[in-house]
Amino acid sequence: MAEIVSEIEKRRAFRAIGEQGVPEDVKRRIARAALLAPSCANKQPWRFVIADEEPALSVVRQSLSGGNYWAKKAPLYLLAVTDPTFDCDLEDRRSYALFDTGMAVMNLQLQAVAEGLVAHPIAGFSDTQLKKGLKIPESHILITIVVVGYPGDDSHLSEKHLVLESSRQERRAVEDLVSKNGWYFDE
Ligand SMILES: Cc1cc2nc3c(=O)[nH]c(=O)nc-3n(C[C@H](O)[C@H](O)[C@H](O)COP(=O)(O)O)c2cc1C
Repeated sequence: MAEIVSEIEKRRAFRAIGEQGVPEDVKRRIARAALLAPSCANKQPWRFVIADEEPALSVVRQSLSGGNYWAKKAPLYLLAVTDPTFDCDLEDRRSYALFDTGMAVMNLQLQAVAEGLVAHPIAGFSDTQLKKGLKIPESHILITIVVVGYPGDDSHLSEKHLVLESSRQERRAVEDLVSKNGWYFDE
């Protein structure tokens, strides 16, 4: 294969998301894709809360930070939750719950892209409001909300977000971040 997998290439953190609902079979495939991720000793430390009906939708929308105004239109939110006690937690700081949950979140994003959806992970929300409103245990880590929906119109986006919508976010060069046969980074 000479090219990057198309879903990886196509995925971007788009913000122009429409209100159209996501069919149940599509939601199920996205959830299944997440659950197929690898995890340490197959501990499957991730938990996902799907918000697609009231009052959960309003709880999520009210929890969003100001800069995430664009996410309020989305019909579907996938909240990824974990806890270090759900996964391998080694004394040398290798705590795999967040790592493994991240892999599951990536899987679901790629499946969503294959389904023609936008799947945009965010950190800008009130953890306290969400945990209270959706009965998520206080001790757990609500690591991200993935905002999901079909591509929509961009007329409500800020100037800054309009620019980002049409331009790919740059990545650092491979040579800056990948070192062969030892740690040879310029730091
Ligand atoms: C953990 C995480 C948190 C993020 N939080 C936000 C957020 O709160 N609001 C937002 O608009 N985008 C958020 N993003 C999207 C990133 O800004 C975006 O992925 C990054 O700029 C790279 O762009 P790309 O995904 O289109 O390649 C987040 C992404 C990740 C992975």
